[in-house]
Amino acid sequence: MKLSLLFRALLFGVSASTVHARPGPSKSYTEIYRPQYHFTPAKNWMNDPNGLVYDADEGVYHLYFQYSPSGPKWGALSWGHATSKDLMHWTEQPVALLARGFPGNVTEMFFSGTVVIDEANTSGFGRKGKVPWVAMYTSYYPVEQVLPSGKHVLKDVQAQSIAYSLDKGMTWTTYDAQNPVIAEPPTPYQDLYKEFRDPGIFWHKETQHWVALVSLATQHKVLIYTSQNLKHWDFASEFGPVNAVGGVWECPNIFPLSLDGKKTKWVLVLGLNPGGPPGTVGSGTQYVVGDFNGTTFTADANSIYDGSGPEDSVIFEDFEGDATFAARGWTATGDLANASPAKGTLAGQNPVTGFQGQQLLNTFIDGDATTGTLTSAPFDISHKYINFLVGGGSNVNETAIRLKVDGRTVHTSTGSNSESLAWQTWDVSKLQGQSALIEIIDNTTGGWGHINVDQISFSNTRATSTIANWLDWGPDFYAALGWNGLPQGQRTIIAWMNNWQYAQNIPTDPWRSAMTVPRHLALKTIDNKATLVQEPAGKWKSLTNHGRAFTFRKVESVRDLGRIGKTLELELKFSSDRASSSEKAEFGVSVAATRDYSHETRVGYDFSTQQVFVDRTRSGDTSFDGTFAGVYSAPLAPSSDGTVSLRILVDWSSVEVFGGEGEATITSQIFPAQNAVYGRLFSTGGKTADVKLRVREVRSTWR
Ligand code: FRU
Repeated sequence: MKLSLLFRALLFGVSASTVHARPGPSKSYTEIYRPQYHFTPAKNWMNDPNGLVYDADEGVYHLYFQYSPSGPKWGALSWGHATSKDLMHWTEQPVALLARGFPGNVTEMFFSGTVVIDEANTSGFGRKGKVPWVAMYTSYYPVEQVLPSGKHVLKDVQAQSIAYSLDKGMTWTTYDAQNPVIAEPPTPYQDLYKEFRDPGIFWHKETQHWVALVSLATQHKVLIYTSQNLKHWDFASEFGPVNAVGGVWECPNIFPLSLDGKKTKWVLVLGLNPGGPPGTVGSGTQYVVGDFNGTTFTADANSIYDGSGPEDSVIFEDFEGDATFAARGWTATGDLANASPAKGTLAGQNPVTGFQGQQLLNTFIDGDATTGTLTSAPFDISHKYINFLVGGGSNVNETAIRLKVDGRTVHTSTGSNSESLAWQTWDVSKLQGQSALIEIIDNTTGGWGHINVDQISFSNTRATSTIANWLDWGPDFYAALGWNGLPQGQRTIIAWMNNWQYAQNIPTDPWRSAMTVPRHLALKTIDNKATLVQEPAGKWKSLTNHGRAFTFRKVESVRDLGRIGKTLELELKFSSDRASSSEKAEFGVSVAATRDYSHETRVGYDFSTQQVFVDRTRSGDTSFDGTFAGVYSAPLAPSSDGTVSLRILVDWSSVEVFGGEGEATITSQIFPAQNAVYGRLFSTGGKTADVKLRVREVRSTWR
């Protein structure tokens, strides 16, 4: 049987990767940390959502996803599959595209991509009146080989391929006769074939052609292609780099939305890893608003940041002018002893980008062979943040910029193995008035053995919050993607609720990673800018009970709510009117707390900075990654009636906060103890007035 299948596959050039056992009947889904109303696969590893498509005839939402059939770690990447009629109850389906060769030696993995319904059968894959669905994905080839199409690929090539389904997305046939259909990046980028991925495809009605966005990850570029038949693609234009470039760009996708219900704008969504939102470490998601004419994306001027950093910056060092480092007041050792700042790119180096003015510190002087240290003169910390641009090597022990107080290193940053400098910020608000110094080290001669630094400056604003439009300000929101096939103008997205920084180490078993709740998007003018606002999609009411309502004229210190449960929707509204105080003025709610509050996740509002925040420093198990315990903030102005509103979704291992109208969202995983079912309100630095809270329990969607 096996042999004859293989024989058929060889004969007809179709992939044998179509028939797989369905994952067993819906498991109980009661393991510790198992999300109760967020999608998780029954077992194994998951990352990005892929191929989201809505089958309007059947009323079925399809969710494909990056999936490892081999266990709870990234590997043998395949497309998992799940379906839902309401975006809340999901049924896991058989694997849609299984890594070629699995469980033996894998010769092709199916990386991220998207699915369209080819109604007009432009691809010709349709037969007997059956409408073909076409998936475009990145083929990742871990070994050099000659493909069934006769094309030769080198080891580690990433190229774009297609597959089709004639049974509404349940089984797929790879287009082996021609794959990959985009074999390499266009001139002059051909040598970047290892960083070329994640096609986002859709039908552009106005110009009547298919469009694919493909990421040229390390260049922070999106390549735009067009096609009449999904098989032959023409390179049309490129976009980027803009805004946040602290890591690779991945999973680009673009969609139209009406601004304030009026004219149509286009929203480009980009994954960024690392270099995510302020205060996070690892991956994040940004968006850019503009216009798209079928071949070219043009960003709105006010959706782009010029990269110059906050306006209130006081420059400490910009490396401009003729003086050597030593003459500028730095103690310079090793090869840097008599050296000076560089005029941009140095001999033998790829182009250095993202610095300000004419010069920067660039230790590629004698190539990577250069080593040495620069130590600044001591200075008193006078502002909340130290901002700087950094690029180059990523090893914290080898090429780094550090802040030292009393001889102790209190902050360290590096580049991300890239010649493009990106803003980084150290929060020094707790070190006010202390004497500090900055040390820049390069003590390695190997690959990426250099560092690039510029614009070291003091400010009360984080540079990192003014460089991008963040789709979510939390640490666990990545590779966001919208459903194709929804009625015009309607946009629902979902994202991977994890972070490459620690994704493989989160303490869940036998699955790893969840999706966020699906979110409905709209585009509104807020603060003179086209801004995405989000709310949970689907019929929420059907999942929740009526809940308990609390009203307090004033809350001071803490107010216990008792046992509130573990799967919750909270709506919290309060007055933003607070007398100034010397203590930090915060108000919010602790959730997923133990009875003694030794563990809790604090969701609140900082009145002085006007930011909503999630504090997971004491949220439970944070031990698996040194950066996991953190506080994440998003700017949120009070609404015109002077109140602040927060909607908070709590599940067994996550918190999602929607602030205001949904313009500020923070998505964060937490791993609380099983008995962390308590909650309380807190108000620090004074009383908070007119507090209204509703607490609803959310039912499990798995039982
Ligand atoms: C993003 C990503 C994609 C790639 C996929 C591989 O999270 O790195 O760029 O296609 O994951 O699993």
